[in-house]
Amino acid sequence: MTLMKPLSRRTFLRKSAVAGGLAPLALSGLAPAWVSRAYAAEPGPNSKVRLGLIGCGAMGQGDLQCFFLNPEVDCAVICDVDDERLAKGVEICNKKRGKTPDTVKDFRRVLDRKDVDVVLIATPDHWHAIPTVLACQAGKDVYVEKPLAKTIGEGRAMLEAAKRHQRVVQMGSQWRSCKHIVEATDLIRSGKLGKVSIVRGWAYLDWLPSIGKPADCPSPAGVDYDMWLGPAPQHAFNPNRFHFNFRWFWDYAGGLMTDWGVHLINMMLMGTGPDEPKSAYSCGGKFVLDDNSETPDSQVTMYEFPDYTLIWEHKAGLNNGLYNRSWGIEWSGSEGNIILNDEGYEIRTERKRANLDNLRKPGSPDPRPAHVRNFLDCVKSRQQPVLNLDIGHHVSTVAHLGSIAYRTGRKVIWDPLNERILADPEANKLVTAEYRKPWSLPYARTA
Ligand SMILES: NC(=O)c1ccc[n+]([C@@H]2O[C@H](COP(=O)([O-])OP(=O)(O)OC[C@H]3O[C@@H](n4cnc5c(N)ncnc54)[C@H](O)[C@@H]3O)[C@@H](O)[C@H]2O)c1
Repeated sequence: MTLMKPLSRRTFLRKSAVAGGLAPLALSGLAPAWVSRAYAAEPGPNSKVRLGLIGCGAMGQGDLQCFFLNPEVDCAVICDVDDERLAKGVEICNKKRGKTPDTVKDFRRVLDRKDVDVVLIATPDHWHAIPTVLACQAGKDVYVEKPLAKTIGEGRAMLEAAKRHQRVVQMGSQWRSCKHIVEATDLIRSGKLGKVSIVRGWAYLDWLPSIGKPADCPSPAGVDYDMWLGPAPQHAFNPNRFHFNFRWFWDYAGGLMTDWGVHLINMMLMGTGPDEPKSAYSCGGKFVLDDNSETPDSQVTMYEFPDYTLIWEHKAGLNNGLYNRSWGIEWSGSEGNIILNDEGYEIRTERKRANLDNLRKPGSPDPRPAHVRNFLDCVKSRQQPVLNLDIGHHVSTVAHLGSIAYRTGRKVIWDPLNERILADPEANKLVTAEYRKPWSLPYARTA
């Protein structure tokens, strides 16, 4: 399945240079097989895949069930810093496999194990980079949830770790394995929509409630809160800055811009290709929700790409998005428009043109099983997964630039060769994360 245009020679050379002389990886379908010495000793395609899960919250539990749809998957160990979450993971393993996995609170004990081939990382965003890099160093393949990390710099370190250690790493934005989205975006890249000059993605969500303003308090029994914080700045425990709601605090994540934004930017770029943005400008605020969350509930970001404009918008408190869709994407070409979401896609042609017919296609089933299957197949074949880290880093970088532009209130100019924001040291500082001691990230560059 070809999901993305090959890198242009210019982009390819730039990326290779950024990688500091490491052997570059081409994008999906074009790469030579990765030969993994660590995995080569394993039996062939029918062998078991032994999983270690790190982060057994809502998504970790969902992903675990999805991995278990594949008969060759077993789970050796589950890691979470919260006893309640560990118990949920054990329950799933008992139900689906009739086996009780080991449980640990320190993810490094997952990486030590010889009976773990693959690590599934579904921790909060600030805890994606370190486990992924250390897992690559330990010779594990990795399925890591989206967004790739909390910052662009961490994403780059993860990409370098995957390359250096020849690991198969897939980012968990399952829409890249969704049949009708692949079909629509293949059509866009075929040129049938004519010249696409504006791409718009939106997420209007009325189900996001105010999370209130609870006071700081002691962390719950059975939770290793210091390990939950990890590399993030020290902060007293607050129920809002914890499970699920960590999304709305800059210390751990990037709000809807990087939460839903990464999913939709992923889909938008499936249609337009691997070009880098030249700049981003963003505005918005906390206009709807009265609570102690930090990230904007309403935000619009405009990106300049070399030959099109990309617009992102999100809003809490209302489900009525554009074209009566709560969320969606519109690619506007010169032959017509394509409007798409999980319910399917619609082609609306320009009446004066004859190249394209109006069309409505229904949505396809939940793409997550196919996305996990693609990863497992690649673990065995040593080919690149559809959302390998070249792509995952590219997609996440675009989303992060929106957050940086919002936080500084300025248009940020992106230098993709050096992965820096030009002429704005304050904005450039947000490209990388400062880690609380004793944590550090191998392969990380400083601001
Ligand atoms: N692909 C998708 O559609 C999708 C959907 C939802 C969430 N996600 C992503 O999944 C990730 C998790 O989101 P969630 O909603 O499940 O959050 P969550 O808060 O429900 O779960 C995170 C879990 O990680 C655990 N954790 C925190 N630090 C840890 C550490 N150091 N070691 C081990 N466990 C640790 C927490 O205790 C918690 O149980 C996020 O990055 C999110 O963006 C992806």
